[in-house]
Amino acid sequence: MKGIILAGGTGSRLKPITNYINKHLLPVGPFPMIYWPILKLKEAGIENILIITNKHHLSSFIELLGNGEELKVSIQFSIQKNEGRGIADALMCAKNYIGQEKFIVILGDNIFEDSLIPYINLFQKQEMGARVLLKDVSDPMRYGVPQLDQSNKQILSIIEKPVNPPSSYCVTGIYMYEPQVFKLIENLQPSYRNELEITDVNNLYIAESRLEYDILKGWWIDAGTHKSLFQANMHVYDKKRKEDIG
Ligand code: DAU
Repeated sequence: MKGIILAGGTGSRLKPITNYINKHLLPVGPFPMIYWPILKLKEAGIENILIITNKHHLSSFIELLGNGEELKVSIQFSIQKNEGRGIADALMCAKNYIGQEKFIVILGDNIFEDSLIPYINLFQKQEMGARVLLKDVSDPMRYGVPQLDQSNKQILSIIEKPVNPPSSYCVTGIYMYEPQVFKLIENLQPSYRNELEITDVNNLYIAESRLEYDILKGWWIDAGTHKSLFQANMHVYDKKRKEDIG
């Protein structure tokens, strides 16, 4: 299985820092943010990774990661031409890289503790379709939020940034798809904020009863705001301090 990491976008919630540096190059603990999803893919045995970013920042990523040799993975890059046009638009850049296999996508600002291995195994056994990972959060209105039928383990719908969240879960930025997803994206219409939304893609899978989910057990954060970036750093150093004390 191959892995895709999305590292484009405008980083608008981290301005003014993101006026001159890509969000995914900012430090989280001792590493640039992008290291964390790379290391999670590597931990799950996924060594072929495509990083999608925009043309202004490509050279910084190449300078940092090269072809991935230092991290013992194989990294390639692709450029999202329409900067900030949406997660689904960015994902389209992976079409040729993926070919006919199932694959996993991680949003480059998502940092988490769970190993991906059990979820990938379940997805491999799943008959095509897509799989998302959810997390119980205190501020669901910041995210894509599922309406759940937990007794039947079904997602009934997902609402992006709802004013009245239908549950306390968010759909995290860890998605597993089959190559058919690219056909769905090709027919997608931009949302009210002029983006091709990954939530719209996932709702298409729900309409076909082909979206499955799991709930993350460990710590998870979307480090895309000043506060959550600080919290991500706090978490990493707190964990290290506890490990040091033994
Ligand atoms: O973190 C989980 C949330 O991520 C989900 O719950 C939401 O459903 C999903 O839409 C997304 O919401 P955000 O508002 O956090 O998305 P953001 O615009 O911050 O983009 C997330 C990542 O995707 C970011 O690391 C950069 C990348 N991206 C984003 C856009 C809009 C791209 O590579 N290209 C883009 O055009």
